[in-house]
Amino acid sequence: MKPSILGLCALLSVALPLTAAQADVITLRFSHVVAPDTPKGKGALLFQQLVAQRLAGQVQLEVMPSGTAFTDANELQALQDGKVDILAPAISKLTDLSPKLKLFDLPFLFESRAALDHFQSRPSGRQLLLSLEPSGIIGLAYWPNGLKQLSARKPLRDPGDAKGLVFRIQNSDVLQSQFEALGATAVKLPFNQTPKAMASGTVNATENTWSNYWSQRLDQQQRYFTESNHGALDYMLIVKADRWRTLPFAVRSALEEIIDQVTFEVKKQSEAENQRDRARLVAAGSSEILTLTPEQRARWREAMRPVWQHYEGEIGTSLIKAAESSN
Ligand code: LMR
Repeated sequence: MKPSILGLCALLSVALPLTAAQADVITLRFSHVVAPDTPKGKGALLFQQLVAQRLAGQVQLEVMPSGTAFTDANELQALQDGKVDILAPAISKLTDLSPKLKLFDLPFLFESRAALDHFQSRPSGRQLLLSLEPSGIIGLAYWPNGLKQLSARKPLRDPGDAKGLVFRIQNSDVLQSQFEALGATAVKLPFNQTPKAMASGTVNATENTWSNYWSQRLDQQQRYFTESNHGALDYMLIVKADRWRTLPFAVRSALEEIIDQVTFEVKKQSEAENQRDRARLVAAGSSEILTLTPEQRARWREAMRPVWQHYEGEIGTSLIKAAESSN
């Protein structure tokens, strides 16, 4: 029997919304600058996997690692222009937009990873996630990478050894002051330009985490690593505020739940991943890892300490005290 016109219309009215719904899959693009096999790279992939499992047909998360889509030099602009939806820059790279975030770059502020995690989970730490709102950006979570170490072509045992060196740093005034306090020079460079700058001799020293050193194989340029743990390299997962707020409420809630779970996993795994990459550097045999005596470490702390006074006005004394009380 042929279907009636009315029957066909009824069929179409059921079929049309389905087709429209399929076309309405929300695509979110997540760009970052490090390799997939790093704490942030793995976090991004887990995020993608959980979105595919729990929001199939509603949201699709595209991950663009290793600075293939955007680099440190242009990713924030790309977010503001709506060319990318999610980033996870090191907090250091957000300090021009929110001076209070300079707190996280103060050398030797947190005595342990646990102290930093504690501070980030407290109201003053949570509040800082919202400090980018005037730039139209919301911070959704903190993701850790790890503690920073120093490296150079010569051994750095005492702060005086850094004098005259040229350090590659992330885009942060605090980090610049930190190395200037040692009589060194600092050059702000995007992450992906670092190996080339090392090879050409534009810079001859740097600071970073074990995972970033290994993934860029900087041991091929820097023979000496000093295990100083003098600061942390953490990320803020950020989105453009108006893009985030116009997502359907149910989608946003599901994404928030996923982000909580991914954040928990990144926190659980990042330390082990950094230790794995430290071991890889040792096994590669092209570098030496120097450990500091408590007296030597105290001298580095002392030499970098003037940075605190310099930035106290911008950061706020009470915020620094709140951070210190997490130790
Ligand atoms: C760096 O520039 O050294 C880091 O911020 C790179 C990263 O995203 O871990």
